[in-house]
Amino acid sequence: MNFASDNIVGASAPVLQAIMQANAGTMTAYGNDEISKRVRACFNEIFEREVSVFFVTTGTAANALALASAVPPYGLCVCHREAHIIDDECGAPEFFMHGAKLAGLPGIGAKLSAEDVVAYLKSLPKAVKQMPPKGLSISQVSEGGMVYSLDEIAALGAICREHGLSFHMDGARFVNALVSLGCTPAEMTWKQGVDILSFGATKNGGLMAEAIVVFRKDLAEALDYRSKRAGQIISKGRLIAAQFEGYFADDHWLDNARHANRMAAFLSEGLLQLPRVRLAWPTQANEVFPIIPKTLDQALKAAGILYNPWTELSLPETERVGDHKVLIRLVTSWASREEDVRRLLEVASSGLSREAAE
Ligand SMILES: Cc1ncc(COP(=O)(O)O)c(C=O)c1O
Repeated sequence: MNFASDNIVGASAPVLQAIMQANAGTMTAYGNDEISKRVRACFNEIFEREVSVFFVTTGTAANALALASAVPPYGLCVCHREAHIIDDECGAPEFFMHGAKLAGLPGIGAKLSAEDVVAYLKSLPKAVKQMPPKGLSISQVSEGGMVYSLDEIAALGAICREHGLSFHMDGARFVNALVSLGCTPAEMTWKQGVDILSFGATKNGGLMAEAIVVFRKDLAEALDYRSKRAGQIISKGRLIAAQFEGYFADDHWLDNARHANRMAAFLSEGLLQLPRVRLAWPTQANEVFPIIPKTLDQALKAAGILYNPWTELSLPETERVGDHKVLIRLVTSWASREEDVRRLLEVASSGLSREAAE
């Protein structure tokens, strides 16, 4: 049983079928094909306005190229200190930004608060020696599995406008947040001031399906060139675009995310029934962050259940994990099976009862 991430499973059947269908015959290369055009139009529909769309193959490429478009080489880009862009991309965003720097702030559940961002911006000296803040990036869902509400995104959007920052959203788990909030893609992005989005589909059923969605025309101007220089203009682009046709058709993307979120809710409800187990913060999408006794950690591992330990950096000041416990991350996906979640809960429950009896 594997709860290590939502990219440990393959691609979903509708996505693979769409690739198979797109595979037949010949079409213009480098994204100038009919399927890519259709999918771009589909993004316009989904976001209820004209958007510029650039297909890429990884979330890291989407983030790095989006941020390079949004932040000049002398600028600072504010993000959470656990953000994927600062912690998990081997410096790719800073590499592609050509000198711009990421500034990581704290925040519970890996979420930025408007107050902390304002305080940080105010603390920066207005001197030529200080890199000026030019960008803000949030992850929706956050690296702590938490979802920014529309009001929270709007508050950050207002700060961006007031201080002249471009607003980037890392949407590796975009749709998990979307169905959690029950809002529209437009409401979760440009209507709250988001300028540029890394739209992830790989984790939710894609094979390698990521897109940069741009809401501000000026940020899209050089993106074709930046993508080409990064090796992200895919020659058989129709096979990348086709994945999105399968993904969007018949609300497949929404159904997948609802399933993943439901499995996470089921898992966290079950964990909360167990003695000496608590959640670091609430489960809001498809990731669960329980704090469990080390003995239980050992029992789960002995049963062959895979997952990752997590940092306590984003816990509230007053809440430490303690010496005998460990904070872990359990991720569910579109393909998670209810029986596997039940099995994990059974192993956990019997591990804890055995320990209590000893
Ligand atoms: C928040 C976040 N952003 C971006 C990514 C995309 O990374 P990759 O380059 O592995 O597709 C991930 C994947 O783990 C992620 O969790």
